[in-house]
Amino acid sequence: MEQHPIWKGKWTVLLAATGSAVGLGNIWLFPYKVGEYGGSAFVLVYLAGVLIMGVPLMISEITIGRFTRMSPFNAVTKLSENSRVPGAWRLLGFIPHIGSCTILTFYAVIAGWALLYMVHMATGGVFGSIQVAEESAAAFSRLQADPLTMIFYHTLFMAATIFIVAKGVIAGLEKSINWMMPLLFVMVICLLIYSMFSGQFMRSLEFLFTPDWSKINGESVSFAIGQAFFSLSLGMGSIITYGAYMAKEGDIAKTGTAVSLLDMLLALCMGLVVFPVVFSFGLEPNSGPGLIFESMPLAFGSLPLGNLFGTVFFALVAVAALSSSISLLEPTVALLEERTSLKRWKIAALVGGAIWLAGFSVVLSFNVWQDVHILPGKNIFDTLDYIVSNIMLPLGGLVTALWMGWLMKPSDARNELGLGPQWFGVLHTMVRYVSPVLLFLVLFTSLGIIQF
Ligand code: TRP
Repeated sequence: MEQHPIWKGKWTVLLAATGSAVGLGNIWLFPYKVGEYGGSAFVLVYLAGVLIMGVPLMISEITIGRFTRMSPFNAVTKLSENSRVPGAWRLLGFIPHIGSCTILTFYAVIAGWALLYMVHMATGGVFGSIQVAEESAAAFSRLQADPLTMIFYHTLFMAATIFIVAKGVIAGLEKSINWMMPLLFVMVICLLIYSMFSGQFMRSLEFLFTPDWSKINGESVSFAIGQAFFSLSLGMGSIITYGAYMAKEGDIAKTGTAVSLLDMLLALCMGLVVFPVVFSFGLEPNSGPGLIFESMPLAFGSLPLGNLFGTVFFALVAVAALSSSISLLEPTVALLEERTSLKRWKIAALVGGAIWLAGFSVVLSFNVWQDVHILPGKNIFDTLDYIVSNIMLPLGGLVTALWMGWLMKPSDARNELGLGPQWFGVLHTMVRYVSPVLLFLVLFTSLGIIQF
């Protein structure tokens, strides 16, 4: 089996994992789901999910990756070698690969929207010169009704993803990520300052943080946990794969904690950027996947040098999405590199090409195939969103917890982590008992076996 190269830079894994975690999940999905599921109740379950399960599982994924130095499927095979786990269970190792490819199918389409908005902001096109709320919603609907434009930008985005993965995560990723991530954080902080003065900041704080437990039900809990996993890139092999490239000297526990907290912070900041705009312009918080695309142009429209800021903002969204999409394609490319003798660029083109084609169905689900329902009342995009958030992510998280908590020898895990007995004890208990129990509950709720 092919050996992978290892990142030399001390900070590379931190930046790469943050690059994977920070993306459309924080900028696009988080505000949209918070709006759809009623604000604070969703946010609080999400925060609990990040702290109780997210941090320990992030650390677990890096540990599994660095210990085995393999892609997820082979990592599990390797972990099972010395155990008595029946062979068929190893097939669970395919879940991250299926999941990451499925996510990328719709991820690339949404990232394409960000590219389009960037271009329009720069050139003063339709989406870049919006002043009133009605115009902004109408412009977004027009985009949704236009499959060719969507396919054009979706194709551009997939081509960039494939290109970087084909070059390899070292040459392709290490350099760009050094300045992109910090710039995105600076930009979000500037926008946050703007929104503090927009008059609706307090209302947004309340919307996001004042607990209203009556709004919590099974569906919002499942989506909030799914959101925590999505945003942290957990359960689908991205972090296992990056862990496999991490230098031996790096501190896994610190890296995992830092990535999780940074990611959570950025999502909360985005909430505080988007909702003041939504409220000041009288938009509906529950307007769905278009939320940031309808709201942010309005904010830029009312700012001096708005188009410049808007261009930079959407460029950073696209770039953040790119550093995440790379981590969605990489696990499967790494697996095929380990298992076949094909060249990396061929594998990247094949796997990426298949995902690109599958993405057409997502584009069409917003227009021509709007009425093609897979699950009752859900078109192709809604179905993928539902299956990913409610089933694949909790399932991926569950198997990761079982691999770390039950399959990997505790002594191996502890050596790899270099933690003292107490901290290791806490971590191990969280992944061995707490996460599996909670995730079973989430899965049963999603499947309708438990109802509340
Ligand atoms: N976390 C990324 C985002 O927030 C998306 C992502 C990358 C992801 N890799 C993943 C989501 C693995 C789930 C699993 O945009």
